[in-house]
Amino acid sequence: MININTLKNRREKLASLIHFPIVLWSGKSASKNFKANHYPFRASSHFLYFAGIPLENAAIRLENGKLDLFMDNPSSDSTLWHGEMPTREDIAVQIGVNNAYPLEALKDTIDGVATIPVQDIFTYEKQKAILQRPLSINQESKDIDHQLMKAIISLRLTHDEIALKEIKKAVDVSVEAHKMGIKSTKKCSTEAEVRAVMESYIISQNMTCAYNSIVTVNGEILHNETYHNLLKSGDLLLADVGAETALGWASDITRTWPVNGQFSSSQRDIYDVVLAAHDACIEKMKPGIEYRDIHLLGAKIMAEGLVNLGILKGHPETLVEKDAHAVFFPHGIGHLLGLDVHDMEDLGDLAGYQEGRTRSDRFGLGYLRLDRPLKAGMVVTIEPGFYQVPAILNHPQFKEKYNKDINWDKLQQFSDVQGIRIEDDILVTETGAEILTKNLPTQAEEIEAMMIK
Ligand code: GLY
Repeated sequence: MININTLKNRREKLASLIHFPIVLWSGKSASKNFKANHYPFRASSHFLYFAGIPLENAAIRLENGKLDLFMDNPSSDSTLWHGEMPTREDIAVQIGVNNAYPLEALKDTIDGVATIPVQDIFTYEKQKAILQRPLSINQESKDIDHQLMKAIISLRLTHDEIALKEIKKAVDVSVEAHKMGIKSTKKCSTEAEVRAVMESYIISQNMTCAYNSIVTVNGEILHNETYHNLLKSGDLLLADVGAETALGWASDITRTWPVNGQFSSSQRDIYDVVLAAHDACIEKMKPGIEYRDIHLLGAKIMAEGLVNLGILKGHPETLVEKDAHAVFFPHGIGHLLGLDVHDMEDLGDLAGYQEGRTRSDRFGLGYLRLDRPLKAGMVVTIEPGFYQVPAILNHPQFKEKYNKDINWDKLQQFSDVQGIRIEDDILVTETGAEILTKNLPTQAEEIEAMMIK
């Protein structure tokens, strides 16, 4: 939903934070083997935030809240292949532009402008050539680009009403896609078939995937992007699939379910430990709470659960202090969500980490992507997981360090649990938190019941 007032409001807020002009490029998709056969286009999220729609090969110039648009009108050749497209002037009206010019005119108005480097190399090289200077996201720099990044982060960290509507639209489609994936699994014979069920629903809603789907019986491979495995009775299937709206807003959900419709007792034991961590973290969320403390709470509940199952030995808090939990839960508890699935991570840790904070080199904290106090209006994921990663469990250094903390014989009894993750999207409210993905069950019995129907 394009809402000119919201776009103008975002532009005015930015103008109140910085006092120099800026130019944001949208980017351009790369071609495959010939010009017209290209990879899907995805506009830069910073551009989308202020322009509202994914215009390819365009730029906007913002100064004092006023927005000028730079893009070329479609050529007659383009009309032949792509049909009648809106003109620059049509788009200017649609998104509330002050003046609209051909792209060529941009070079005459770039004195003293700040920008943010885009991801695609073609546009990135163009940005540097037009501005005649290097571009980087160097966190030490205090130049105007850096000031712009910080200003945009301060806006995008919390979401306005229109952004939340879009995120909720993406969430609703993802919830339905997961339900369809869960319900269809018993009829599917490969990971690819379940992925197809889930993604085809997303596509049918005129959305795309916000990231490459993970639909795997090897849930211990955290970002597994292969889908060739056969589904076997006794396997767990982990699906991390999220839709993105046509205007670029993301969702991100993970569920793990038994291929045959029933968790084994060992799978159920671990599932409930992960769910306990998930629930405890969400319960704790409210403005002012440090996300790092949420992560550490998740780690403690995981450690507690694994001690109760006899897999870890010792006191949960001591185990977390020495990062023993991270042998099984090596990633962070989640991340920011917005126009990108790891929102604003194109800026390194500038968005995720509060000023003055840097990533820890601790095994149990190094993959924490967000280290800020929570604020009302933020949307974050909560996604604890348990994994048996051979590269960790067989690593000589970890084996030696954590040998006495792990009951290896006991662990063998959980050999049918490769990876379990439960992930929801959470809006921080004035008083607590709202689970945007609440319509997708998390309880093991509820998931099993969905598979019977
Ligand atoms: N859902 C994929 C990720 O968070 O990396």
